Amino acid sequence: MTYLEKSKEKLNTLRNRNDYLILAFESSCDETAVAVTRGREVLSSVISSQIEIHKRFGGVVPEIASRNHALAIDSITKEALEKAGVTFDDIDAIAVTYGAGLLGALLVGVSYAKALAYTLEKPLIACNHIKGHIAANYISAPDLEPPFICLLASGGHTYILKVNAFDDMEIMGETQDDAVGEAFDKVARVLGLPYPGGPEIDKLARLGKPSYKLPRAFKGEKHLNFSYSGLKTAVINLVANTKARGGEIIPEDLACSFQTEATGVLIENTIEAAKRSGITTICLAGGVGANSALRDGLTKAGQKAHCKVLLPPRSLCTDNAAMIGICAYEEIKCGIEPAELTLDANPGL
Ligand code: KG4
Ligand code: ZN
Repeated sequence: MTYLEKSKEKLNTLRNRNDYLILAFESSCDETAVAVTRGREVLSSVISSQIEIHKRFGGVVPEIASRNHALAIDSITKEALEKAGVTFDDIDAIAVTYGAGLLGALLVGVSYAKALAYTLEKPLIACNHIKGHIAANYISAPDLEPPFICLLASGGHTYILKVNAFDDMEIMGETQDDAVGEAFDKVARVLGLPYPGGPEIDKLARLGKPSYKLPRAFKGEKHLNFSYSGLKTAVINLVANTKARGGEIIPEDLACSFQTEATGVLIENTIEAAKRSGITTICLAGGVGANSALRDGLTKAGQKAHCKVLLPPRSLCTDNAAMIGICAYEEIKCGIEPAELTLDANPGL
C-alpha cells in the first residue's frame, strides 16, 4: 500500500471518533506554533513569536520569518508533545496550515509536517488559515454549532461570513482593499508606534477621545462591504498636513478616532448581517478580534440586537496552532481527504 492509501484507510477509522489526537502546525506569518488537540479540546499550544526579531524592521521580513520558523519548529514540536504528555506514537493525524500566508514561511510548516506524516505513517490534513481562525471559536465555546455569523478580522483578511456548516460558508461582506489589521499596522507606523501596530493603537486609544473626523466609505450603501484605504490615507494626510502647517497631532485622539471608525463599520455591518440572515449567534475571529473597542462594541451592539456574541480569548484570536488542530478535526468530520505528499503552500488561498 502507498502512503496515501494507508492515510485514507487510517483517516476513515477516525471519522466517527472524537477522542483522537492531532499534532497541528501553523507557520503562515511570524509565529511558529505547534499544538496537540483532541476533539475540540486543546492539550497543549506552544507559540514562538518572532515579533521582537521583526520589530526593528517595522514589519515582517518574509525571508527572516522563514529562517526563524526553520530554526524553531523542531524544538517547539517537542515542547508541544511534552506539555500534552504524549509522544509521536500517540498522535493519530498531522495538521498543517498550507495557506493563506507568506510562501516561504508556509513551506517550513508544510515540509516539516509532510516529512513527519510520511515517517510516522499518519494522515496529513491540509488546513486553511482563515478557517482555522474561525475554528478558534469552538475551543472557547465547545458546544457551538453552525449556523452563525463570523466576523473575521486579521492582518491579511477581513470578512463577514455566514457559516452554514464548517464546509459551507458565504461571504456577506468583505474589504474592497486593505485588511483592517493592515490598516491598524500602517496607521500605527504613521504615529511612530512599533510593529505590530494593532495592540499599540489599542493601548494608546484608551487614553484619547474620538475628536478627529475621519471618512467612512460606502455610507448609506445596501451592501455590507467596507474599504480601509480611504481611512488609512485620510490619517496619513491629516498627519502630513498638520506637520506641514507646524501644528501638533494629539496621538491618543487620532488613535482613538481611527480605531472607533475602523471597528465601528465592522460592528454595524456584522449586526446588519445577523439581522438580514435571521441568525442570532455572532462569533469573532482573527488578530484584530483582540481589539478592545471591537470586543466591547460588538458585545454591546449584539445585546441591543438580541444576538449572542461569542468572543474567543485574545490569545486564540491571534495566530496559534490550536485553531489549526480544531480546524482539522472539523474538516475530518466533514469528510476531507488526506493531503498527498505533493502538498504545496498556497499563499493566496
Ligand atoms: O490573525 P493575525 O494574528 O495574523 C494574520 O492572519 O494576519 O492578525 C494579525 C493582525 C495584525 O495586523 C495586528 O496588528 C492585529 O492583528 N492585532 C490587533 C490587535 N492585536 C493584534 N489589532 C487591533 N487591536 C489589537 N489589540
Ligand atoms: Zn492569522
